[in-house]
Amino acid sequence: MNLDDIDTVGVVGAGTMGAGIAQVAAVAGYDVVVRDVEQRFVDSGFGSIEGSLDRFVARGDLDRSAADDARDRIEGTTDLAALSGADLVVEAVTEELSVKQSVFGDLAESCSPETVLATNTSTLSITSIASVVDRPERVVGLHFMNPVPVMAGVEVVVGEHTSEATVDIAHAFAERLDKETWEADDKPGFVVNRVLMPWINEGIRAYDEGVAEKGDVDRGLRLGTNVPMGPLELADHVGLDVVLDASETLQAELGDRYRPAYLLKRKVEAGDLGKKTGAGFYEYE
Ligand SMILES: NC(=O)c1ccc[n+]([C@@H]2O[C@H](COP(=O)([O-])OP(=O)(O)OC[C@H]3O[C@@H](n4cnc5c(N)ncnc54)[C@H](O)[C@@H]3O)[C@@H](O)[C@H]2O)c1
Repeated sequence: MNLDDIDTVGVVGAGTMGAGIAQVAAVAGYDVVVRDVEQRFVDSGFGSIEGSLDRFVARGDLDRSAADDARDRIEGTTDLAALSGADLVVEAVTEELSVKQSVFGDLAESCSPETVLATNTSTLSITSIASVVDRPERVVGLHFMNPVPVMAGVEVVVGEHTSEATVDIAHAFAERLDKETWEADDKPGFVVNRVLMPWINEGIRAYDEGVAEKGDVDRGLRLGTNVPMGPLELADHVGLDVVLDASETLQAELGDRYRPAYLLKRKVEAGDLGKKTGAGFYEYE
């Protein structure tokens, strides 16, 4: 299998990430089949894709006809068998090892043995996910960033059995989607979340321990290190539950330096998960 053999891309999960991945693959010219477990999740994924394509058109970054063609290239389904013709599949389901392993077991049965199977996991082991697949050399991490249509980079993660050919296809495919790539070994958190999660947690602790007001923690990091968002703003954007979950996974693997901040846990317990619930460290309309 090489890049030119890929015509149809499968996406498993039509949530935040799956919808974005389906969109960028369709804009790049691939036929895309996106599968979720219930039709309402598929419909909601299409709602996000259409909204995002409309914003690209409104900004003048995409022609209306190109956006409509991309939309028409995406087929939504709840039927796993519809993915059987995919040449490359990106899994973007819930971040739970047992759920991902079950999806990969099903994909290995229904797809061709040549199909490249990629996972968008943020923190789980590619090697564990691949352990349920008959040819684990074709399993690779393709860690897209949120929001997928906007963010420029994709992390390619290499599992214990991932072949060089699969790694090459993963880079080439992401580049075809107009993304830049970097490579990480299959160690907890890869590059981005390994560094990002303690950074966010330390920002939360700095605020909670009275080093600075929350606005000043964020302003300090924005102005002092030239990042577009400070740690509390970014936590609200990502979702405090997602940050807590990733921090706990990393703590279990890498030890106490990944311990989540107390205030992060308390906000999650209170249901203040950031932008998606209207309140996190800041309030949202
Ligand atoms: N949200 C982010 O910022 C972000 C960034 C990078 C990576 N990720 C990773 O991407 C993956 C997806 O995250 P998300 O934020 O899109 O989650 P999400 O909750 O928005 O979407 C997950 C979707 O998967 C569906 N699903 C669950 N089991 C399924 C199955 N067996 N078959 C088909 N669909 C199934 C759910 O119904 C849901 O629609 C996770 O592994 C996450 O760690 C998320």
